[in-house]
Amino acid sequence: MSDEMHYHDYLQLEKILNAQFPESNKRNLTAHDEMLFIIIHQAYELWFKQLHHEVDSIAVIMKKPAMNDNSPELQTVVHRLNRIATILRVLVHQIDIMETMTPMDFLDFRDLLRPASGFQSWQFKELEAKLGLKFRRRYGGEYYISQLRKEHIDVIKKAESETSLLELVNAWLERMPLAPSLAKENESFWKVYHRRYQDSLADAEKNNLTAFDEIFFEEIVPHTQADDVQRSLSPTACRAALFIMLYRGYPLLQLPFQLLNALLEIDEQLSSWRYRHRNMVHRMIGTRIGTGGSSGKDYLKDAADKHYIFKEIAALNCFLIERRKLPTLSPALEKRLGFVAT
Ligand code: HEM
Repeated sequence: MSDEMHYHDYLQLEKILNAQFPESNKRNLTAHDEMLFIIIHQAYELWFKQLHHEVDSIAVIMKKPAMNDNSPELQTVVHRLNRIATILRVLVHQIDIMETMTPMDFLDFRDLLRPASGFQSWQFKELEAKLGLKFRRRYGGEYYISQLRKEHIDVIKKAESETSLLELVNAWLERMPLAPSLAKENESFWKVYHRRYQDSLADAEKNNLTAFDEIFFEEIVPHTQADDVQRSLSPTACRAALFIMLYRGYPLLQLPFQLLNALLEIDEQLSSWRYRHRNMVHRMIGTRIGTGGSSGKDYLKDAADKHYIFKEIAALNCFLIERRKLPTLSPALEKRLGFVAT
């Protein structure tokens, strides 16, 4: 036999193509769509595996204290975050295929699955945890692990105890050297910005100013120390993120802006997936409970509403002001933000 690498072996097709065992076949029942149902879930789980591969590699880079906005590694992070968003987009579209199965087709085998459910997808929950969804923010508290095996709960708890992508982004923003700090010489930047933001508010929006002060200037205890604190981004990190959004036209801020934008895209795609999945569930089983025993579509709606991961970044967009009203930067800072060497 030749030792040459072969497509079949390289891809382990022997295992993958022999891993579909419809329950209906075992019981001599006709349920044509069960094969589709198995393959689509397997395809999702393979993509989840790839998403873990990407998130893990991003975490390795972002944990390095040396990573700065001028390093090639930031480009790699942005590239991989965009890949994650692209995969998620494909995962949203895969629901189109699932929806070619009608409720009657599903009923042919639905009861054979009970109590198995996508709710037991530990890879999905581990991914949420790695991105930054902490236990205290989960809808329904401990319910989300109630139907998982011990070894899978351990995997998720481990991911929750490690530094998440959101925490790494917070640390990266905090050490960003270019955003004006609150130090004396820069004080005027934030003072001017505060005034211009205040002037931009309509009467009905005046409360935004209190939120502005809290988010950008009120120090919080990081959530690793106080579990009941709802914020994950520190005021320093928020000021850096806002600065990046406002002045993203400068060459040095383009990649940091793309990074923040990719995180919002990931949240949007995850949320689109939840929305499409929930609507599919509604169409498929109406208001019946899920095979996993939850309230079905209502559970999925509440989880979707609560499980945005990068919502604090999205929320910063309400503190932007018009370009033409932006404070002018000092010539020294402008120079640092450009390509020109000093
Ligand atoms: C006929 C198609 C489907 C139906 C009727 C359905 C139904 C449900 C229901 C009712 C739940 C809530 C938990 C429960 O009580 O079972 C759930 C959760 C879930 N399903 Fe599906 N599902 C379908 C397809 C899929 C597919 C293709 C995936 C891809 C992996 C998936 C992944 C998940 C995940 C990850 C959860 C947990 C979501 C969370 O806790 O936020 N489902 N599904």
